Amino acid sequence: MGISCYRIRIFLRKLDTKFPAAARKALRVLFSLIAPGSLLVRPMRYNTVCEKIPGQYVQGLKDLLSYIQGHIGKAGSMVEVGSYAGESTEIFATAFQTVYAVDPWAEFRMKHIEKKFDERAKRKPNIIKMKKFSADAASFFQDESLDFVYLDARHDYASVKNDIHHWLPKIKERCFIGGHDYNEGEKVGVIRAVDEMFGKPDKVFMDSSWVKQIG
Ligand SMILES: C[S@@+](CC[C@H](N)C(=O)[O-])C[C@H]1O[C@@H](n2cnc3c(N)ncnc32)[C@H](O)[C@@H]1O
Repeated sequence: MGISCYRIRIFLRKLDTKFPAAARKALRVLFSLIAPGSLLVRPMRYNTVCEKIPGQYVQGLKDLLSYIQGHIGKAGSMVEVGSYAGESTEIFATAFQTVYAVDPWAEFRMKHIEKKFDERAKRKPNIIKMKKFSADAASFFQDESLDFVYLDARHDYASVKNDIHHWLPKIKERCFIGGHDYNEGEKVGVIRAVDEMFGKPDKVFMDSSWVKQIG
């Protein structure tokens, strides 16, 4: 029983990388009926959950980019911290000359996700992949060298604060810092860290991206 449970859990993890949340939930319900009380019904836990509301996600990012372009005109270099499969990176690459995509792609399921990122990045030569953790990547940039830094890595309070601390000096005067998930709920750490640092963001978009002009 122990071995077969283990095998099924491995199988479920593989499925977990391919199926959307609703399908995964249905699978767990199904298995909980087959084997009530077994370890199978425990939710799989990952550090990273990339939640997006279709429509709002893309439009929010586009509005964010228009907002930044409206202030600084021609957009030069930006860093995205937390690129995952590259969906947002690809959108940023339509507006910025160079997009540095920082992500360690370190977790269990990340091989598959990183491959998706690589496929997207291949289509956009202005995306530069940096397979690194946030703090390590920041040390590669000179102070006041970037037009925009977008934080979308870990969303707990301490991590967001650390990211702001590492990246803020890298941004040019009158340019922008921002990020994702400025909303209530599980990711309330983002609001607390951002508000403590900046008072309030200048603007929050429909996908819950926030932005603040520096200086
Ligand atoms: C919410 S997802 C990013 C979603 C992506 N921006 C998008 O909209 O498609 C978070 C990503 O942050 C990455 N990450 C986690 N810890 C990190 C760290 N310390 N530095 C950089 N990236 C990190 C994860 O590997 C994951 O790919």
